[in-house]
Amino acid sequence: MIRFALFGAGRAGRIHARNIARHPRAELVCVCDVDRPAAERVAGEHGARAASDPAAVWRAESIDAVLIASSTDTHVELLRKALGAGKAAYCEKPIDFDLPRVRAVVAEAAATDVPVAVGFRRRALPEYREIRRRIREGEVGAVEVVHLVSRDYRPPSPEYVAVSGGFLRDKTIHYFDLIPWVVGERPAEVYATGSCLVEPWIGEAGDIDTTMVVLRMPSGALCHIDNGRRAVYGFDERVEVFGARGMLRSEPPSVSNVARFGEAGIRHERYPDLYGEESFAGLLDAFILALERGEPPAPSLAEGLQAQLIAEAAVESLRRNRPVAVEY
Ligand SMILES: NC(=O)c1ccc[n+]([C@@H]2O[C@H](COP(=O)([O-])OP(=O)(O)OC[C@H]3O[C@@H](n4cnc5c(N)ncnc54)[C@H](O)[C@@H]3O)[C@@H](O)[C@H]2O)c1
Repeated sequence: MIRFALFGAGRAGRIHARNIARHPRAELVCVCDVDRPAAERVAGEHGARAASDPAAVWRAESIDAVLIASSTDTHVELLRKALGAGKAAYCEKPIDFDLPRVRAVVAEAAATDVPVAVGFRRRALPEYREIRRRIREGEVGAVEVVHLVSRDYRPPSPEYVAVSGGFLRDKTIHYFDLIPWVVGERPAEVYATGSCLVEPWIGEAGDIDTTMVVLRMPSGALCHIDNGRRAVYGFDERVEVFGARGMLRSEPPSVSNVARFGEAGIRHERYPDLYGEESFAGLLDAFILALERGEPPAPSLAEGLQAQLIAEAAVESLRRNRPVAVEY
């Protein structure tokens, strides 16, 4: 049984609390949030104790691991404390918006044997695991082109966008982790362009809500990410990997394969965000399994930094409107 303390009882924290509580080999011991009522609410839903002072967590021998789902600017401090206390950590993405701070904590973690993972949860989805496995087995030969489409159902709140770091650092970063992991090489160069097409207030806040990004891999393979904040028919994500010997393709999950044929035409159900539910729980399960087996959990902190470096090159490319080399 892995006994967890959860930091952050917000949007992501509530999902993690539920998943820890439901996991057969995990226990949610404590929920810690500087907003005490929020901590009490979430802790109360799962029979855990609430805390607003993190010191209680670091001292507690009854806690094996921490799940850091508090605001991004608190991650590094909490990670450092977890490393010092020898508690395994699952840290939400991004590690921090300040790259020198990220590099410093990655180096600190590398000097310990404390297991740390970063929450790039798409790695837990069976279709991406399967595509990755088949690429490694040579099923499509050398990868030449990747097309990835990801469209959220609807944009987040203005409060969220204001502290998100921008669309490329907040959302597209998931694919800056996923694509190198799936195809087996990391981009040498990034070109990103973007528009504000969904909500004018996103543009007024200095952000974009629609982007097209091209990653050029050292092999010459080209990977295209088409990412947006809204799809009226529901959350939509699919990937196509094309190689010398064929193609692998994933489809978005659908409510059912049944379409209704009526006078008004043919109606399919809206895509649900099954990816959200399944991937959060899947990555938590992989983390728990790694701890039980004494294996390093993934994605690693160093991989978290790698995705951030690609995101920074994309931000720079958007700003300068030209391709930018990624400095690792
Ligand atoms: N992996 C994903 O797909 C995914 C999805 C959503 C959010 N996230 C990440 O999760 C993190 C939280 O995002 P959110 O949307 O839940 O934000 P949120 O604002 O809804 O919740 C953050 C919570 O952290 C609490 N908090 C702030 N400082 C704290 C501290 N020092 N100790 C404990 N609690 C503290 C706040 O009071 C708040 O309740 C962010 O880093 C975000 O990028 C990841």
